[in-house]
Amino acid sequence: GPDVAAGVSEHVLDVPDFPQSGVMFKDLTPLFADPTGFRRAIDAIIAYHGVESFDVVAGVEARGFVIAAAVAYATGTGVVPVRKAGKLPRNTVAASYALEYGEATLEVHADAFHAGERVLVVDDVLATGGTAEASLDLVERAGGRVAGFSVLLELGFLGGRQRLAPRPVHALLTV
Ligand code: PRP
Ligand code: MG
Repeated sequence: GPDVAAGVSEHVLDVPDFPQSGVMFKDLTPLFADPTGFRRAIDAIIAYHGVESFDVVAGVEARGFVIAAAVAYATGTGVVPVRKAGKLPRNTVAASYALEYGEATLEVHADAFHAGERVLVVDDVLATGGTAEASLDLVERAGGRVAGFSVLLELGFLGGRQRLAPRPVHALLTV
């Protein structure tokens, strides 16, 4: 609700021209560092989905790890890391997605999920949706079932939500 969105908003810093000229970077490190703001954000994600709705939390490297670990600890579940290419030591499934220049690849261990396991996927920001689309695809290809997808912040003007449709997106704050 509006209280949660305001709570996130007050800890987001706008950084102009990062990482390149013309881009307004949304810095969430103050939210991670604020005890009350961080706890409320994590609790809001859990409350939205319900503790009974998922079995495990998948976090997207790197900033999604912070959120995934907190959600998992608070709900007595565990974390599965969705990692950048070449970091996971065993058999993986991989998905590539386009960046502005070139492409990026994410991986998850092929045996990361029990068949049909309900997976809550979390990340800090939804921008173009490339990262999320690859992550959700990976969860399903590794045998999991996507129970939900949450971000702290959605950049609505970049169309990530439309890209992921009909899969639902839960964002604590949309700008
Ligand atoms: C950022 C952010 C999201 C992603 C969103 O991660 O943390 O994961 O971009 O962008 P998209 O919706 O356009 O795909 P980044 O790839 O910069 O890496 P990091 O989390 O390791 O900092
Ligand atoms: Mg990221």
